[in-house]
Amino acid sequence: MSIERVGIVGSGIMGSGIAQVAAQNGFEVVLRSRKQETAEATVAGMEKSLDRAVEKGRMEQADRDATVARVTATSALHDLADCDLVIETVVEDLEVKKRLFIELNSACRDDAIIATNTSTLAVIEMAVEVNHPDRVCGVHFFNPAPAMKLVEIIRPLTASDETIAEIRSFVETCGKDPVEVQDRAGFVVNALLFPYLNNAVKMLEKGVANRDDIDTAMKGGCNFPMGPFELLDLVGLDTSVSILDALYQETRDHNYTPDPALLRMVAAGMLGRKSGSGFYDYNK
Ligand SMILES: NC(=O)c1ccc[n+]([C@@H]2O[C@H](COP(=O)([O-])OP(=O)(O)OC[C@H]3O[C@@H](n4cnc5c(N)ncnc54)[C@H](O)[C@@H]3O)[C@@H](O)[C@H]2O)c1
Repeated sequence: MSIERVGIVGSGIMGSGIAQVAAQNGFEVVLRSRKQETAEATVAGMEKSLDRAVEKGRMEQADRDATVARVTATSALHDLADCDLVIETVVEDLEVKKRLFIELNSACRDDAIIATNTSTLAVIEMAVEVNHPDRVCGVHFFNPAPAMKLVEIIRPLTASDETIAEIRSFVETCGKDPVEVQDRAGFVVNALLFPYLNNAVKMLEKGVANRDDIDTAMKGGCNFPMGPFELLDLVGLDTSVSILDALYQETRDHNYTPDPALLRMVAAGMLGRKSGSGFYDYNK
C-alpha cells in the first residue's frame, strides 16, 4: 500500500507542524482537533506561515495554494476513515493516548497505519489497544517539524517489516532523514540528551560554574548551537521534567531523576520561553 492520505490527530505545536510538512510534500491531509474552531484556526495559522514563506521568496505562490488545498480541518474522527496513515500528536499522557488508539481502531481502515509522535512513551502500550498492532509504530518528528530534518521511526515488538518500510518511505517523501530505533524510553535523542541537560542543572546547583559560563562552554567546546540552559528553556521545563520522569520510570537510573531545582522552577511557573522566564528572562 502506498500512503497518499494522512490524518493528523491533535493540533498543538507538533500536529500543526507535521500537517504542514505532509501537505507541502504532496500528501492529502485531514487535521483533526477535538473542536472544529481549533482545527480551522490551526489551518489558518499554517496558511500564515506559508504566506511568510512566499513573502520571503522561499516558496512559490502556486505551491502555497496547492499545499493549502490539500488540507482539510475536522473535529470528526470518522473523517479519518479514508486515511492510509494516521499520526497522533496529542498530549504526552499514556492514558489519553491509549483511549485515543481505541477510538482510532473503530474510526480507521483495518489496513491503515496508526502512528504516535510520542517523545518517550512505550509505543507497544498503544499498539496493543488496536486490532492490528502490526500496523502501529512511532514516528517522532522534532520541533519545529518543518525545519528539523530528523525523524525517529520507532519499532514496537509487534510492528511488521511492511509497516516500517511504508513509514520510512513516507518520512523520506517528506524530505526528512529517518533513523530506526527500538521501542525504548527516549529513543535515541532524548535518552542521550536529557541526562546531559539534567547534569548541567546539577552542575549549576553545585556552583561549579555559572549559567552563562556553562552555556558558553558547551557551545564553544562542543560546537553545540545552544547551551544546555538555552535548550531547556526552548523545550520547556515542564516537558523536560515529563521526559526525565518517563526515562526514570523505565530505567530506575537516578541519572534521570529530575534535579529538584527543575521541579521548583516548574512549580513556580518558570517553564522557559513559553512562560516568559526559565533559566533566562524573556520579558526584558
Ligand atoms: N513540543 C515538542 O518539542 C515535541 C517534540 C517531539 C514530540 N513531541 C510530542 O508530540 C506530542 C504533542 O506535543 P505538542 O508539543 O504538540 O503539545 P501541545 O500541547 O502543543 O498539543 C497537544 C495537543 O493535544 C490535545 N489534547 C490535550 N489533552 C487532550 C486530551 N485529553 N485528549 C485529546 N487531545 C488532547 C491539545 O488540544 C493539543 O491539540 C506529545 O506526545 C509530545 O511528547 C513534542
